[in-house]
Amino acid sequence: MSEKKFPEGFLWGAATASYQVEGGIENCDWAKAAREGRVPECGRACDHYNRYEADYDIAKSLGHNCHRISIEWARLEPEEGKFDEKEIEHYLAVLAALRERRLKPFITLWHFTLPQWFADKGGFEHPDAPEIFARYCGYVARKLGNDCRHFATINEPIPYASNGWRRGIWLPFKKWPGIDTIAIATSGRELDPRPETSIANIFKYFSVINTLIRSHNAAYDAIKKSAFGAEVGIVHQVLLFHSNGNPWNVLLARLMNWHFTHYFIKRVYKKCDSIGVNYYLHKKFGDTVVYDKTDMGWDVYPEGIREALLMVKRYGLPLWVSEAGVADAKDTIRAEYIKGLVRGTYDAMQEGADVRGFMYWSLLDNYEWASGFGKRFGLVEIDYDTLERRVRPSAYVYKQIIEQNGLVDSVR
Ligand code: BGC
Repeated sequence: MSEKKFPEGFLWGAATASYQVEGGIENCDWAKAAREGRVPECGRACDHYNRYEADYDIAKSLGHNCHRISIEWARLEPEEGKFDEKEIEHYLAVLAALRERRLKPFITLWHFTLPQWFADKGGFEHPDAPEIFARYCGYVARKLGNDCRHFATINEPIPYASNGWRRGIWLPFKKWPGIDTIAIATSGRELDPRPETSIANIFKYFSVINTLIRSHNAAYDAIKKSAFGAEVGIVHQVLLFHSNGNPWNVLLARLMNWHFTHYFIKRVYKKCDSIGVNYYLHKKFGDTVVYDKTDMGWDVYPEGIREALLMVKRYGLPLWVSEAGVADAKDTIRAEYIKGLVRGTYDAMQEGADVRGFMYWSLLDNYEWASGFGKRFGLVEIDYDTLERRVRPSAYVYKQIIEQNGLVDSVR
């Protein structure tokens, strides 16, 4: 195999999300659902809220030069319209810690969890959601905009809507009748979320997607006004649909890609300076291959990242791999999986995708939503009893890739 060297200045790092690692967040909708026994408890999670410096020391020691975090809306705006300066101070300290370690920060303003007051109003079903969201984003950008130049508004709008208003496994637990029989991704849930099944949820699902589109566009304007020169984008999971070439399957894949990717991006890309691509899943119609599975039960198919990136190349924007990774508690496949992702990213770049950086999901093991703490995506293993951190062997393979700025003979 020939060398696959990335351009100079290419960014390498990992991503985390506030609720999944910080711990101690009790005033958001997921915490309430956990108290009601509908999703697993998150509790102190990795206690990253108090241990971020030590965690960033690890990221630094692994050669990373960027890091994607999300900030917790419920901490910053615990009551509608009332912002908590103390929590702004916290995130300013987090940004300073990243800067001291030369980890370029990327902030996602909202990663799935809603402040309880907003959820009580109906969250993204509320007609004023775009203005409410934009007010929050504008406030944060004003406060953090000098210390971070890269903001993403929303993490993965389509899986959010899909799990919440179609499959009924995430909040607010709304489900379409008969949806289980045509499930594509069967990501698990530990508990019975007690979804409410109704045909009206079909309409609500589409309406929420449209509200999320308006929310991104309003937030873009608010951030641009508040933080001069900041870059603003979206983080989108490209669920890759492809086919065995049979015309019916080709058509099916196109339709699904239109629905799961292009419908949203087409309506927001003019208000995006870049697009973050998350890649985890593919579905090949007419495929007879039996794939190995990750601990999530998803196909081991890292090379699909190439097509995922090429799918959004058409929007002509810089791209980031803002998340890609594997649940692999025993760390037996992660190193090869990462290499596959890096190869696929490189190949997409050879075909014209303007990718600027790669962020592995995740730095730490964390709370995997409805699946709880059992699924382990981390480069760093967490012992949830002692909160001890242990770097997994695959993290050193990723480190070598970073040091070589790509895949060379010694790390293939
Ligand atoms: C989300 C993360 C999640 C990861 C693995 C992405 O959909 O942004 O929050 O943990 O996938 O499932």
